[in-house]
Amino acid sequence: MVLLDGKKIAAEIKAELKQKIDEQFAITGRRPGLVAILVGENPASKIYVSSKSKACAEIGITGKTESFPANISESELLKIIESYNLEKNFHGILVQLPLPKHINEEKIIESISVFKDVDGFHPSSVGNLVIGKETFYPCTPAGIQELLVRYKIEIAGKHVVVLGRSNIVGKPIANILLQKKENANAVVTVCHSAAGDLSYYTKQADILIAAIGRAEFVKADMVRENAVVIDVGINRVDDPASPKGYKVVGDVDFANVSKKASFITPVPGGVGPMTIAMLLKNTFEAFIKYS
Ligand SMILES: NC(=O)c1ccc[n+]([C@@H]2O[C@H](COP(=O)([O-])OP(=O)(O)OC[C@H]3O[C@@H](n4cnc5c(N)ncnc54)[C@H](OP(=O)(O)O)[C@@H]3O)[C@@H](O)[C@H]2O)c1
Repeated sequence: MVLLDGKKIAAEIKAELKQKIDEQFAITGRRPGLVAILVGENPASKIYVSSKSKACAEIGITGKTESFPANISESELLKIIESYNLEKNFHGILVQLPLPKHINEEKIIESISVFKDVDGFHPSSVGNLVIGKETFYPCTPAGIQELLVRYKIEIAGKHVVVLGRSNIVGKPIANILLQKKENANAVVTVCHSAAGDLSYYTKQADILIAAIGRAEFVKADMVRENAVVIDVGINRVDDPASPKGYKVVGDVDFANVSKKASFITPVPGGVGPMTIAMLLKNTFEAFIKYS
C-alpha cells in the first residue's frame, strides 16, 4: 500500500509556485493577490481563512482578509465584491462559506468576476468545467486529480466511484474525471443517499472517492482488493485520549481499508492540504492570464 501524501505533494506544488512567482516579480515587480472575505464569527471559517492567508504569505502571494460582522447586509457585501472585481492588485476573490442566512449565497457567488473566481464556484465556471472548456476548477476536486496524476495513477478507462454529489466535491470531481481529456477519461459512477446498497457500487471501483461526511463509513468489505481510495471526509469524533477531546477522521475506515487498497489518502494530510495548494495555483493562474 502506498500512502498518497497530500502534505508532501502540496509542499512541492507550493515550492514550484513560489519559484514562478519570484520569477514574475523579478520581471514585472508585481505579485498575485488573493482577497478572502470572511463574514461573521464561525470558528471553522476563521481557521480556514487564516490557513489560506498563511499559505499565501509562504509563497509570495499578497493575501488580504476582509472580515465583516455577521449582520452586514447583502447589498453591502455585493458592493465590496464589486470593488474587488475592479481592483487590479487582487486577482482572486474568495468568499468563505457558509454565509449568514440573510445573505443569498448564490447571488454572492454570481457577483464574483469569473476571471477572479479562484474557488471555481461561479455557475459559468461550473458550466465551462462540464462542457470541457478551460476554467478554474474547484480546489478540492482539482487537488484530488492532481494527487492522482503526481502519483502516476492511471485514470483513463478506470471505473471511478464517487460517494457524494455536493456542488463543491462530488459533482465537480465526477465531471473533471469524466472529461475526454488527459488525466481524466474515466468511467464515472456517482452515488448519494438514495443509492441503497452502496457496497454494490463501491466494490466495482478501481478508484473510490468518498465525500459524504460520515465518519469511517467505508469499511474494508466495501472495497475491491488493490483499489485506489481517496478520502475527502473531515469528521470530528470524540476522543477522550486526545487533549482536545476529539480527533479528526475521514469517511473511510483507514486502519482496515488501507490493508486492501493499493493507494490511499490519510486524514488529515491527504486531500486537505491539496485543496489549499490548488487555491494558490488558481490565484497564480488568474494573475498570469487575466491581469
Ligand atoms: N479535504 C477538504 O479539503 C474538504 C473539502 C470539502 C469538504 N470536505 C469534507 O468532505 C465531506 C463531504 O463534504 P461535502 O461538502 O461534499 O458534503 P455535503 O454537502 O454534506 O454532501 C454530502 C453528500 O454525501 C451524500 N451522503 C451522505 N450520507 C450518505 C450515505 N449514507 N450514503 C450515500 N450518500 C450519502 C449526500 O447525499 P444527498 O445528496 O442524497 O443528500 C450528499 O450528496 C465532509 O466531511 C467535508 O467536511 C473536505
